Amino acid sequence: MRFPPHFLDEIRARLPVSQVVSRKVALKKKGREYAGLSPFKVEKTASFFVNDQKGFYHCFASGEHGDIFKFVMSTEGLTFPEAVERLAAEAGLPMPKMTEHEAEVEDTRQRLYTLLEAAAKFFEDSLRGASGAEARRYIDKRGLKPETVAAFRLGFAPSSRSALKEHLGKQGFTLDEMVQSGMLISGDDIPVAYDRFRNRIMFPIGDLKGRTIAFGGRALDPDAPAKYLNSPETPLFHKGHVLFNAHRARQAAHDKGRIVAVEGYMDVAALHEGGFPEAVAPLGTALTEDQVKILWRMSPEPILCFDGDSAGRKAAYRAIDVVLPHLKPGSSVAIAFLPDGLDPDDLIRQQGSAAMDGILARTKPLSAVMFEREWASGDWSTPERRAGLELQLRNLTQRIADPGVRGYYEQDVRRRLAEAWGQPLPGQRGGASQRPAGAYAPNGGAARWQPKAAYGARTTGRPDLVPRADNPWREPGSGRGGRFAQDRRGTFGPPPSAQRSASLLQSGIVSDQMSALPMREALLLQAIVHHPWLIDDYAEGIADLALVSTPLARLRDAILSLHAADNSLDSARLTSQLEKVGQGRVLDLLRRAITHKCDRFAQADAPNAEVDAGWRHALALHDRQVGLKRALEAAERSWHDDGSEEALARICDIQRQLQVLELAGIDQSDQQAVGSGEGR
Ligand code: UTP
Ligand code: MN
Repeated sequence: MRFPPHFLDEIRARLPVSQVVSRKVALKKKGREYAGLSPFKVEKTASFFVNDQKGFYHCFASGEHGDIFKFVMSTEGLTFPEAVERLAAEAGLPMPKMTEHEAEVEDTRQRLYTLLEAAAKFFEDSLRGASGAEARRYIDKRGLKPETVAAFRLGFAPSSRSALKEHLGKQGFTLDEMVQSGMLISGDDIPVAYDRFRNRIMFPIGDLKGRTIAFGGRALDPDAPAKYLNSPETPLFHKGHVLFNAHRARQAAHDKGRIVAVEGYMDVAALHEGGFPEAVAPLGTALTEDQVKILWRMSPEPILCFDGDSAGRKAAYRAIDVVLPHLKPGSSVAIAFLPDGLDPDDLIRQQGSAAMDGILARTKPLSAVMFEREWASGDWSTPERRAGLELQLRNLTQRIADPGVRGYYEQDVRRRLAEAWGQPLPGQRGGASQRPAGAYAPNGGAARWQPKAAYGARTTGRPDLVPRADNPWREPGSGRGGRFAQDRRGTFGPPPSAQRSASLLQSGIVSDQMSALPMREALLLQAIVHHPWLIDDYAEGIADLALVSTPLARLRDAILSLHAADNSLDSARLTSQLEKVGQGRVLDLLRRAITHKCDRFAQADAPNAEVDAGWRHALALHDRQVGLKRALEAAERSWHDDGSEEALARICDIQRQLQVLELAGIDQSDQQAVGSGEGR
């Protein structure tokens, strides 16, 4: 709505700037003005001034300048209408009146808001009540704290076709209103409208003001046809324009200068609990253009965080197409991938917030992921194919509407292609070390012919098994030499982003000890712990098992030596002995690594025949993976030595095989679950 200018002036007249500002900034009177520390920049001496007569503030540290509306918008992340509403209330002014028609429409909407609020309350009460016992147990099992349940107002929709309907009826809502709000399912072929959400954990979805406008419900029953169910489109809810948790995340985004979009409701809740209140999620669909625009209102470079599974990768690749046309100078997205088929919820529960922090600190620029996507889509070993890739990339950059950004993308693509083909860059003779300082950020380009680097491979694994080109220390163009990039200050050393990951590594936060347990290795070890008889049957195989994860290798060694001392240990005694020899923490990690996503054979209650078959299958896949990694290293060495086409083609081929294998047999069941739902 447009506000009459006299209305805005009246608010300005009633609220001195110093009064509005002083809630955020301690002000001292200095002559006719007030001075304080800038809310926009960290500083020690006051360079932020407020002038009540002129009705504005000015910040010499950041150049920010504006009136009370602008101040509230830029310090609290509100939109203009929201700032007006807030300050009008503070000034004691009623909002301007609407026309009759506007009032009527507003009335219906108001009824729906009230209805949805009543529904949210009903679900919250049901969760606390007798029918909510199983739901409470489930929430508990998922590790959600009571504070989180309360903050997100989680609830429970009872397993009944009429519980909500009756409740809302008693409160005076009509059937028509219930249907309009999306809470009932009705239709010409449905004689009696019934509750849409049944036997589900309920997540209220709020608008930017925090009013409930819809719900997402997670099935308690694993056999339910859709794992998650959302409200349909209603007068209040258009799912492509809403992000789950946006109203809570907005202030946090403003304070932290960062917003993170993840894929699921549970992820947002886990992030909130893990100290990342700046998280939002789309609602069961791929990220839309409008949602990206909402994100841009919260931060110029939102982080899009995707699961490490193939569905997550696909979602990331799709997001590129959504974002590209709308890039603006200074506005982009950064992309983060989670390791090994984990989602943020899994990662935080298994490895803690520090691991998540590590992921968010090592995002990739959109330009890099775009290039990697195209690169991964084919085999570029002949001149014709290479020209084809170039064309593919050109078509993509052409979709960027902003000419400035487009120009830089074209330049970026040319550079990456030149690097990929191993040509010297323009104006560069000889070695890569002559590259102009800071001309190219190796962070984004580490994946020269290496799509895998996009998936966070560099955070896991032992260096000797990590393909060399994945190594962020290594400059992409340096080819055979492997020299460090020359950084902006003109000294030699790892690029700044690499330094950051180096210090993270040293701090132990994402060290080998803490990094994601490779899923298949975890499964194999878990199976041994649960079924020690495997040791007798497969002793040699176990001793020779090449394990990337050092903690798991140590665990294996400990198991073998305990078994050598006493080969009659059952699972319980083996576990307690392992705890005594200091393996408790690894066992704990292992327990948390094995989630609902994993194969059943490793579980304690799996029947022996299933354990045996599952074990042999996992072992075979593992061996094949180890073999491929060795072959990859050999191919890389020969490519570094002779730069031959064959070696390059071999690398691409092995990488493809590895990608397929990495997911084989681990997350299939989960993908089916997703596939059967509303889709993403
Ligand atoms: P996931 O299948 O990754 O679920 O779907 P999740 O978030 O990890 O949930 P938990 O941990 O199993 O409880 C991610 C998101 O995709 C949407 C939902 O928004 C979900 O949060 N989705 C998924 C659906 O809309 N319908 C489905 O059937 C499945
Ligand atoms: Mn999950």
